[in-house]
Amino acid sequence: MHLGLIGYGNIARTLMGVLARENAAISRVSVVSLPEFADATRTALAQDFAGESAVYTDSAPLIQARPDLVVECAGHAAVQAHATAVLRAGIEVLIVSIGALADAALLDAVERAAAEGGTRITLPAGAIGGVDILSALRPSGIESVTYSGRKPPMAWSGTPAEDLLDLPALTREAVFFTGNARDAATQYPKNANVAATLALAGLGFEATQVRLIADPEVTRNIHEYTVRAGAANYTIRIEGNPSPDNPKTSVTTVYSVARAVLNRTRKVAI
Ligand SMILES: NC(=O)c1ccc[n+]([C@@H]2O[C@H](COP(=O)([O-])OP(=O)(O)OC[C@H]3O[C@@H](n4cnc5c(N)ncnc54)[C@H](O)[C@@H]3O)[C@@H](O)[C@H]2O)c1
Repeated sequence: MHLGLIGYGNIARTLMGVLARENAAISRVSVVSLPEFADATRTALAQDFAGESAVYTDSAPLIQARPDLVVECAGHAAVQAHATAVLRAGIEVLIVSIGALADAALLDAVERAAAEGGTRITLPAGAIGGVDILSALRPSGIESVTYSGRKPPMAWSGTPAEDLLDLPALTREAVFFTGNARDAATQYPKNANVAATLALAGLGFEATQVRLIADPEVTRNIHEYTVRAGAANYTIRIEGNPSPDNPKTSVTTVYSVARAVLNRTRKVAI
């Protein structure tokens, strides 16, 4: 398989390690990097992957190289910059920065580009799990999806929570956001991915309820959600370890992306 990557940071590098350990049948890797990091990306990629590889600074040469799948793991701006061109060229894109799709115009643009290219967009479960049953239950009629995102106080630094709470001084849990997934994704874009994933799999951005919590009692990123639907009710709680190289990213995200890639290289996809 020829794997394309947009972004070569924490998720991409950890992914390459997982794929190597799993003996994934990857023959070639092509990466789009920001120009200022292209040399560092070449060095890192050469350390991580012994096969044929290339680093580009735009999506046009990536498209010419015709990877079998492109994994975006670079952030919301990269989805905006590259996803439509790659899709329109008929190459499947797995979008990790799912929160970008809270922008209705961008979601519409990528869907149209995929239709024009005769390909599809894949959204991995990312930091959470249980997205298979949520998506499957949709035709049975979903009544409610209620999500709580609980992280250590300092994991919310650099977000508007900083203006609402004295994060370093918190001694007990504080719920600082209650609202729908659209507002959560707009106000907390760096933490929008899980809310957006649940919204897209289930009830949509307006009807998916979100609570965001800073909790000094926890050391992991805790995602908990409850679904009420015609065919079943369920609650799931995931205590994700933060990535060593980027504590804002739960390391489960990398395994979820690795699963999607491995499923394309093996005879049994599960
Ligand atoms: N779906 C989920 O549950 C979930 C969970 C965690 C993170 N994410 C998303 O994954 C993204 C990546 O996470 P990470 O931990 O690897 O972050 P990171 O900051 O370690 O790596 C991102 C890399 O992308 C590069 N980059 C940024 N803009 C780019 C562009 N326009 N073109 C090419 N490269 C670009 C950066 O230079 C960096 O090397 C996050 O921004 C987040 O939106 C999704």
